[in-house]
Amino acid sequence: MRVLVTQEIDPIGLQILADAGLEVDVRAGPRPIDRAVLLDRVGGCVGLVPMPTDRIDAAVLDAGPLRVVAQHAVGFDNLDLAAARARGVICTNTPGVLTDATADLAMALLLAASRRVVEGDRLVRRGEFEGWRPTMLRGLDLRGGVLGIVGMGRIGRATAERAQAFGMTLVHHRGDPQELPSLPVGLDELLGMADVVSLHFPLRPETRGLIGAAAFSAMNSTAVLVNTSRGPVVDDSALAEALRPGQIAAAGLDVYAHGPQVEPALLALDNVILAPHLGSATRGTRRKMAELAARNMVAALGGDVPPNRIA
Ligand code: GLV
Repeated sequence: MRVLVTQEIDPIGLQILADAGLEVDVRAGPRPIDRAVLLDRVGGCVGLVPMPTDRIDAAVLDAGPLRVVAQHAVGFDNLDLAAARARGVICTNTPGVLTDATADLAMALLLAASRRVVEGDRLVRRGEFEGWRPTMLRGLDLRGGVLGIVGMGRIGRATAERAQAFGMTLVHHRGDPQELPSLPVGLDELLGMADVVSLHFPLRPETRGLIGAAAFSAMNSTAVLVNTSRGPVVDDSALAEALRPGQIAAAGLDVYAHGPQVEPALLALDNVILAPHLGSATRGTRRKMAELAARNMVAALGGDVPPNRIA
């Protein structure tokens, strides 16, 4: 029984697959797998371990005798679950293990964008640092500021917890804050009152482009946007239009509307931090993701209920 893994993952995942007696085909290369290569190599495979950059639709599901798709990520907007269900293909993801790493990255972007760290780094490298100045690169005060979490799920809560330690007050739209002292508000209300807006909801047809021109008009001119969820939930050209004249103050992005391509207008701006989808990129987290994806695969192929079934 062969399993295709579309990019190199932590060796623990490959070991678990091999120990279960599976033949593992790992496609190597720095970029996401080419669609034609995917369609070709999935032929003959009963299992597929895709990355969030791989579109797994009916054509892929029909290209091989696939029984299990064990996504190496928590988000699964790249999987056509209805097509998988229609074909009896089991799908799984890797929730939980990347919550802390992703919340840490959200916090890193929140801090860096609020305190203009990357702008400062560029200034120093340009040789323009001439000494401490009371008016240089003033940013946002976090203590007493309002953090608006859109999508209070696992990662939203973990981000909110971190921001609480910095003295921020919490409001949220959608989701469940559990024990966190967060006020539920409408989206427009949140956008109008937040000093930082952090996005933590999945990409779905109804959330595509949710944060666009209207949202930026509702935000404060001193506000910061952080997006560690999925790129297409933000309209990046409208974001550039809002950042350029200072309609909002800054943004920290880990994902892009047309990722991996970045809106050219954003590249030209100083008040946006652009990260290359690093949310879960820590050694320990990627190890746990590889392990979980492999365990899901082995369980499902062995006829057991996989720990993280989504279809
Ligand atoms: C990464 O973006 C993931 O969904 O795990």
